[in-house]
Amino acid sequence: MNQCFGPGGPGCLTAGVITLDGLTKVFPAPGGGDPVTALEGIDLHLDEGRVHGIVGRSGAGKSTLIRCLTGLEKPTAGRVEVDGTDIAALDGAALRAARRNIGMVFQHANLLDSRTAAQNISHPLEIAGVPRAQREARVAELVELVGLSGREHNHPAQLSGGQIQRVGIARGLAAEPKVLLCDEPTSALDGSTTRQILRLIADLRERLGITVVIITHEMGVVREVCDTVTLLQDGRIAQSGDLLEVAGDPHGPLSGELIPLPPAPTGIDAVLVNCDYGRTGRFRTSEDLVRLADEHGAEAHIVAGIIETISGTQVGRVQLALQNRTGEPISREGLAAFLHELDAEGVVATEVSA
Ligand SMILES: Nc1ncnc2c1ncn2[C@@H]1O[C@H](COP(=O)(O)OP(=O)(O)OP(=O)(O)O)[C@@H](O)[C@H]1O
Ligand SMILES: [Mg+2]
Repeated sequence: MNQCFGPGGPGCLTAGVITLDGLTKVFPAPGGGDPVTALEGIDLHLDEGRVHGIVGRSGAGKSTLIRCLTGLEKPTAGRVEVDGTDIAALDGAALRAARRNIGMVFQHANLLDSRTAAQNISHPLEIAGVPRAQREARVAELVELVGLSGREHNHPAQLSGGQIQRVGIARGLAAEPKVLLCDEPTSALDGSTTRQILRLIADLRERLGITVVIITHEMGVVREVCDTVTLLQDGRIAQSGDLLEVAGDPHGPLSGELIPLPPAPTGIDAVLVNCDYGRTGRFRTSEDLVRLADEHGAEAHIVAGIIETISGTQVGRVQLALQNRTGEPISREGLAAFLHELDAEGVVATEVSA
């Protein structure tokens, strides 16, 4: 499978910032048993200036993938290209130089307690041998960029969790990388701080044009900030694509997680139909569906539903209970005509057993 998120669509030849080609990583079993295939034949093309989410259960291979992107792990097979450089082929000083193009943000920023926020941000620049005056100018710029003005002289113990993560992000951006890799960047934060940090990431992408890869188990993070999403399952890509496409495909494994339908009340004497609407076609609201049911001689009651805004588009998933006007379940013919018209309007509708 070739996943290409560039403007040219699948199979395009635009120079993407990250290209994985047949990436495979097999670990020898530490105890001498069967080797573990952590990644197998991953083909992924992530374009510049977008936010890409990578999700998957524990053990799916997410951290291994990020470690291959940073050159911390060498692939068993395949290529890992970041901004035109084959990371897997590099060692020593060449690898260290290529890594400057890649910023990292972790779940816990792991700041140095004895240093202030500004000194923590400055740390990678010191290691890279950047002269003092240049370093100070860059740190001042970064403090402003991540919204830490007034807190730059605080030590980590004097910062909130969200501020600590801002320092972590500023430190990740210090060397002006083209790619920012984030491993569970908001998992340790509360809901409102998570939203602030995600807004910051979206803003940085907008202002700096950097490419962001976020590993997360939080679907809210994917919904809020990602342009594309890839689901890893047992080291393989189970689904990958533009967020709106993936969320709006009710047959794919990710849509139920991105737009989970809450449980409907049980014991309803009606035909139940799940509808996914909003991605294409004329029907934009659940009221549109109720009106169409009415045109087919049926009363539709929304018994469960969720509406999410994904990439600026409202996407809804509702469960309708259909009855005729005398309170009986709708006829098979009426149902077939209703479903047919929904289909023609791009609404994915499936009858479910009560
Ligand atoms: N150094 C290693 N040696 C042997 N096996 C490893 C090594 N690193 C990872 N694995 C195995 O590779 C598989 C993928 O691990 P990985 O850490 O990439 O998963 P993950 O998706 O990041 O999981 P989590 O969400 O729990 O962090 C697991 O089965 C793991 O046990
Ligand atoms: Mg992991």
